[in-house]
Amino acid sequence: MDSTKHTQKQWDKHDLYELCVQNPEACIPLINAIHGRSPSTLAEDFAGTAILSRQWAEQSDDHRAIATDLDQEALNKHPDHPRVTKVCADVNQSADPADVIFVGNFSIGYHHTRAELIAYLKQAHARLAQTNGTFLCDTYGGENAFIPGGVHRPTPMGDGRLCRYTWEQRDADPLTGMVRNYIHFRIEHAGTITDEHDEAFEYHWRLWSVPELRDAMLEAGFKSTNVYNKLPDAIDDEGNAYINPIQDPEEELDDSFIVLVSSSVS
Ligand SMILES: C[S@@+](CC[C@H](N)C(=O)[O-])C[C@H]1O[C@@H](n2cnc3c(N)ncnc32)[C@H](O)[C@@H]1O
Repeated sequence: MDSTKHTQKQWDKHDLYELCVQNPEACIPLINAIHGRSPSTLAEDFAGTAILSRQWAEQSDDHRAIATDLDQEALNKHPDHPRVTKVCADVNQSADPADVIFVGNFSIGYHHTRAELIAYLKQAHARLAQTNGTFLCDTYGGENAFIPGGVHRPTPMGDGRLCRYTWEQRDADPLTGMVRNYIHFRIEHAGTITDEHDEAFEYHWRLWSVPELRDAMLEAGFKSTNVYNKLPDAIDDEGNAYINPIQDPEEELDDSFIVLVSSSVS
């Protein structure tokens, strides 16, 4: 009998997503570096389990976060934190001011039309206006962006098991920009599949290109935009990241890429 069975925790799809997809430890230094003026209030829109907000708040007594998502179950995943406000609502209704608004893992694509995108960005601009704040979202692009297919990535679960993460681009229409993507998880132990979460997450998004996002940000009232790789140029001993906007796409962008697009109020 497998002696590890009794000690292994049960992982739900949110645990597996955090393990395989998210990396708040790497994200927080990037947010600080791109904002550049020690932001204290983070608004995590489309927050999911709000793990980024939680780690943001844990980092400093001066930090607070507002995590907004439609999914109460996801927001309930972690215990409450005194400096994290969880809001179960549509991000389009949010009026919460912040120093930084962060939209992660391609969630900006939930805005399917340009009118919806601009309306959301105008509202985001108003939320950031008092603090001269920064809006940040990510998107993907490049030669495979509109090609159906998948990538797999094995991630050790720390208890002898392995989670095989699959990102599947099932439908992608280059004429409308609409894509349908899935995340699947498969758990393996000693070469045997012990659990499967097929279609754990499904996304129906508009895949906005980088210039479409930058144009929309400017139209919504932001003064400037920049594009960054999701990896910092350097990290010092204290964990501070240093990052410069991409200047030379040919040199700095892979054929298939993920970038952060930022916009500033002033
Ligand atoms: C791709 S997940 C992002 C999770 C996490 N923020 C991350 O960076 O990985 C997208 C989340 O957006 C939420 N969502 C979708 N539309 C929304 C809306 N209009 N308002 C608030 N949350 C929304 C979904 O419930 C889901 O939890």
